[in-house]
Amino acid sequence: MAPINDVTDFSVENGIGILSLDSPPVNALSSAVRTGLLEGIQAAEADASVRAVVLICRGRTFIAGADITEFGGAAKGASLSAVQDAIENSSKPVVAAIHGTALGGGLEVALCCHYRVAVPSARCGLPEVNLGLLPGAGGTQRLPRIVGVEKALEMVTGGQHVPAPTCLELGLVDELASEDDLQASAIAFAEGVLAEGRPLRKVRESDDKLEASRGKPEIFEKFRAGIARRTRGFLAPEYNVRCIEAAVNSESFEAGLAVEQDLFRKLLTGPQSLAQRHVFFAERQIWKLPDVPRETPTIEVQKVGIIGAGTMGGGIAMNFANVGLPVTLVETSQEALDRGLGVIRANYERTASRGRITAEDVEARTGLITGTLAMEDLGDVDLVIEAVFESMPLKKEIFARLDGIAKPGAILASNTSALDINEIAQSTERPEAVIGLHFFSPANVMKLVEVVRGEATSDAVIATSMGLSKRIGKNAALVGVCPGFVGNRILAARQAQANRLVMEGAMPWDVDRVLFDFGLPMGPFAMSDLAGLDIGWNKAESRGETVRDVLCEMDRRGQKTSAGYYDYDAHRKASPSPVVEKVIREFAARGGNSARAMSDEEILERCVYPMINEGVKILDEGMAIRASDVDVIWISGYGWPVYRGGPMFYAEQVGLERVLARLQELQKEYGDAFAPAPLLEKMVAEGSSFRDLGF
Ligand code: CAA
Repeated sequence: MAPINDVTDFSVENGIGILSLDSPPVNALSSAVRTGLLEGIQAAEADASVRAVVLICRGRTFIAGADITEFGGAAKGASLSAVQDAIENSSKPVVAAIHGTALGGGLEVALCCHYRVAVPSARCGLPEVNLGLLPGAGGTQRLPRIVGVEKALEMVTGGQHVPAPTCLELGLVDELASEDDLQASAIAFAEGVLAEGRPLRKVRESDDKLEASRGKPEIFEKFRAGIARRTRGFLAPEYNVRCIEAAVNSESFEAGLAVEQDLFRKLLTGPQSLAQRHVFFAERQIWKLPDVPRETPTIEVQKVGIIGAGTMGGGIAMNFANVGLPVTLVETSQEALDRGLGVIRANYERTASRGRITAEDVEARTGLITGTLAMEDLGDVDLVIEAVFESMPLKKEIFARLDGIAKPGAILASNTSALDINEIAQSTERPEAVIGLHFFSPANVMKLVEVVRGEATSDAVIATSMGLSKRIGKNAALVGVCPGFVGNRILAARQAQANRLVMEGAMPWDVDRVLFDFGLPMGPFAMSDLAGLDIGWNKAESRGETVRDVLCEMDRRGQKTSAGYYDYDAHRKASPSPVVEKVIREFAARGGNSARAMSDEEILERCVYPMINEGVKILDEGMAIRASDVDVIWISGYGWPVYRGGPMFYAEQVGLERVLARLQELQKEYGDAFAPAPLLEKMVAEGSSFRDLGF
């Protein structure tokens, strides 16, 4: 084995050159990898004894793409296009041997090889769209030449990792290799190519698959319409479509490539990709806990108990059943239990009817969830999650009882969205076992769990909760105990401002439209209507003190009563309500507020800047570990647009100085609700970023 550089080796076995890469963790195309690849191909070309080349990777995966950490830096080493040209123009057949994932630039390198073999467990894809990018190394030009236009459109805009057996059907892969000995399979394949005198196949030269789509712009229009809802606000999906269009309509491969490169550069230097790359790393950072050592022993969770079979409890139970963990679901009445189990079954059946799981999956998963009316049945579970309604006395009573039932070492978690975990923990003799696991509704769908650490929570309980959240496919953020924790505390700051805005002249639908256009799935008033205006409202005590009280008193309690802030038709389509407008205007007039016109910019700033301000206070108090955790919370739990990177990233994009100046103006005008966080003032005075301060 002769090293080419630190990350590449070249050796020759019976006339087959083995060019191998070993650049952990994912063999990304760093400058060293690119240089090593180029020199390896040149070595093979120069060595007369080499008849064919196998390109193979060591470690967990084939090349997983460009090295994202190098984006934005000065170009160093061999260029990717030089590597690709050298491979494609090699006078000897080059075979890519794929295991793990061949993604992005990695697949684009493989597509320049004359042939590709892959182990059955491998997956290939062009996921650049998830980073706000497009495959910028010829991927959009080569892929449709192999898999056809429709499939290519789906792959580049969806970013899926396609399993090797499907790749074989699509022609992306030429042969499935032995799972246990990829190198031997690839060498045998190369020998076969030589023996049969198969050609040095260049994907760029084959146009047949494009022919079928020429002169048919409707293919692209239909596709665009199909993804419009899912990709609203994102630039990259549209740019990917344009590249495939260019592959079909350009006179030559090079002309299509020029379009791809131009659009790639635009995305790479634009704000959306910057934000999406930030989110990529943020989602990987959240698992790193500065004061809980990586090697902390975890508790083995083989069985889960859930108290409360309502919407939250049922949704939470599904997460565990989905990964094969048995769940005991406790309710207080048979009727509530039957209803809860029925909803779970209906949810699974709906998923099956959409083809996402099989009928057998429905049975297997519902079969893992056992209902009971006896809390004593939780004696053998390793984790209990309490998901009853938000009442501190009730939760304390449940935890005190649980303390006598749960086995030693079991984790006792509460799904509370706001209550004090420390107070709940005090009702047990084992506060170190108590933690908050705050799921977001619908809990079987939303990707976030806030893992709320109490004063006494042990490291093992924290580490286990984080690991388990990962296992059920969630993003988990470790947060501290404060009212609303991180996500809802920031939401409350926004809601307070949204309520004030409507007193000053904006209507709920104006506020909602501005936030929807910003990229959120819905604004605060549409959200209230969806959740129900009567959450936390008490009919007996209601005295019409807020607009919400008045609407509830009028039985406008949200979508469920076909009326809330909006009027709803039979299809739940919302329209602005003249009744609500009248209520708001009268309410505002009573409070001495006269309605005035308000710009969209003002609405946006008044909703979003207090969120940022609250986020900064949260960081200063140590309630979140880092600014990017706050971003992940708001993206995964509340649908903050990924292409804006989360509220804290957005703050730095806007400029902390500008945010501070505007908050100061607003404070003068509207009072201390806008008082800037001292940390924000400090950061602006010092010119420091969240990262500079270790946030
Ligand atoms: N560049 C740099 N670092 C990368 C990377 C990349 N392309 N892909 C992953 N990493 C890093 C991660 O940040 C992580 O680092 P830490 O351990 O320090 O947090 C580490 O590799 C392991 O990653 P994961 O935790 O994600 O590991 P996994 O096993 O769960 O998943 C993976 C592996 C499927 C490859 C996943 O990391 C992934 O999807 N990576 C991104 C793939 C991608 O988007 N490729 C396209 C890049 S853009 C491109 O290629 C453009 C072009 O054509 C020029």
